[in-house]
Order: sequence, then C-alpha cells, then structure tokens
Amino acid sequence: MKTKLNSFLTLVMVVLFTMTLVAFTVPQDGWVVPEKYKNMKNEFAGEDEDGIGEELYNQHCKSCHGKEGYGDGTKAKELETELRDLTSDEVQAQTDGELYYKSIIGRDEMPNFEKKIRDEEDRWMLINYLRALAK
Ligand code: HEC
Repeated sequence: MKTKLNSFLTLVMVVLFTMTLVAFTVPQDGWVVPEKYKNMKNEFAGEDEDGIGEELYNQHCKSCHGKEGYGDGTKAKELETELRDLTSDEVQAQTDGELYYKSIIGRDEMPNFEKKIRDEEDRWMLINYLRALAK
C-alpha cells in the first residue's frame, strides 16, 4: 500500500516538474510556432523587387499594423490585443518561418490569410517586406 502511494507521489512530482519546464520554455507571449514552420526556409529571402510584398502589406496589414509597422493603423484602436511594433527587436529576432506562421496562419485577432494570400512566393515577399520595414 505504502509503495503504491509513493509511486503515485513520484508520478505527481514528475508531472508537476514537466509542467513547470514547459511553462518556462514557451515564449513570453505564449504564441508557440510549430517546429515545421519555425524552420521553414525562405527561398526568396531578401527580394521584393516588384514591390509585391509592399502592395500586399498595404492592402491587408496596414489597417492594423500601420504604414511603418509600428502598430498604429486606423483599426488598431478597436483591437483588444496589444500590437507589437513589427520593426522591434523582439519581432525581428524571430525566424522568417515564425513570421510566416504568425502572418499567414494568425491567431485570435490576428486574422488568417491562407485564403487571401494563396501564392507561396507572394507570402514570402510579404515577409521580406516586414524585414525591409525594420531597415
Ligand atoms: C485586424 C487587425 C490585423 C490585421 C489586418 C493584421 N494583423 Fe497582424 N496582428 C494583429 C494582432 C492583434 C496581433 C497580435 C496577436 C496576438 O499576439 O495574439 C498581430 C500580430 C502579428 C504578428 C506577430 C508579431 C509578434 O508579436 O511576434 C505578425 C508578424 C503580424 N501580425 C503580421 C501581419 C501581416 C503580415 C498582416 C497582413 C497580411 C497582418 N498582420 C494583418 C492584428 C492584425
């Protein structure tokens, strides 16, 4: 009986320990990007030659994130979620894949753009434009 209780307590400890570990590994804003996306390669890195990324940004993103990405778009006031400055270090330190996931898949108040921006190259041009905003 006693050994049973002991193994139960050990199990509880292990579970609690694992939960604490997970809590600390998750980024501060809790937006976890799946590995598959995180390590995605941007085959078009650095290029937005035809201004496609800029055009898409102005069409779909500017209303919330603002012309320069500072989070001061006309719709920003109506949002409950705080918008981080897209040109800030904390945003720019993320991989292209992470920005891709957040930009295209989204969550909650950040809309999903899978249907509106279908072309893979266009999507990456948009990410390249986000990089250009910070320059
Ligand atoms: C309706 C307003 C709205 C529009 C339009 C919008 N966003 Fe967002 N975006 C948000 C909100 C709100 C967040 C914060 C979401 C959160 O943290 O849960 C966000 C977060 C992000 C982030 C993550 C930044 C970080 O904190 O790491 C990126 C990248 C981003 N948006 C890119 C885009 C791009 C690119 C477009 C256009 C294709 C776009 N957004 C259009 C509201 C918007």
